[in-house]
Amino acid sequence: MTERTSWQRFFDEHAPIYDDNVFVQNTLREVEFLLGELSLPQGGSILDVGCGTGRHAVELAKRGYAVTGIDLSTEMLARAAKAADAAGVSVEWIHSDATRFSLPQRFDAAICLCEGAFGLLSQTDDPIEQPLAILRNISRSLKPDAKAMLTVLNGVAMLRRATDSEVAAGQFDLQSLAVSSAHPPREGLDAVAVRERGFVPTELALLLRLAGLSVVSMGGGTAGNWGKRPLDLDEMEIMVVARKTAEPLAGA
Ligand SMILES: C[S@@+](CC[C@H](N)C(=O)[O-])C[C@H]1O[C@@H](n2cnc3c(N)ncnc32)[C@H](O)[C@@H]1O
Repeated sequence: MTERTSWQRFFDEHAPIYDDNVFVQNTLREVEFLLGELSLPQGGSILDVGCGTGRHAVELAKRGYAVTGIDLSTEMLARAAKAADAAGVSVEWIHSDATRFSLPQRFDAAICLCEGAFGLLSQTDDPIEQPLAILRNISRSLKPDAKAMLTVLNGVAMLRRATDSEVAAGQFDLQSLAVSSAHPPREGLDAVAVRERGFVPTELALLLRLAGLSVVSMGGGTAGNWGKRPLDLDEMEIMVVARKTAEPLAGA
């Protein structure tokens, strides 16, 4: 791979403390919930896009599923591999940008959780093509009728929180619903400038449709508060479950 993107650098350096974040403390409940949504055959195959330290992938492998995890950060993947070894399970780990991977049509389900790549824009990513490329790659890897579950930033809530001065300062871009900010990946390190974008439900449904995926359900999916409920205007994340109903329309 070429030079590290801003998110790659951020997560490489954040990896040692990622599992301490409050939003990753509900993994067991999340795994039970997603298994209830994905209609998987016993021992079925699951693709985890932006798998991070493998918290879902390893739990799913422990339950007998054949899991493949993809991530851009070698440091996140190194921790994921260690977690799988410690749990005594085998998971296929792939180091790749989610906009670029290509896998055969062999998965019974896909997950892309907690902004696993989706909407985490590099400084040069096109805000529409980046998520669309990820959805197309996911869709191509799914068997017909297989489901995908994503949790993504809720653009409606981002719009309600944004101020005129943030827009004027270019910190919140109204056209792409992208926030530009800078955060130290962990204490004592320099801040890394990153861009992440939200989605309104209509655009999300359209992107999914272009990728050959039809919405099964869309609702509130904020980390730590997963459940079947309508999307709240201020909810941080949208949870969408979609089904592969067609091949993706050709595109860039
Ligand atoms: C917030 S973490 C979510 C990790 C995991 N899905 C979870 O629920 O804990 C985002 C992950 O996406 C990865 N990521 C960011 N951009 C990516 C890209 N373009 N392709 C693949 N992975 C990416 C990061 O390295 C990081 O591991």
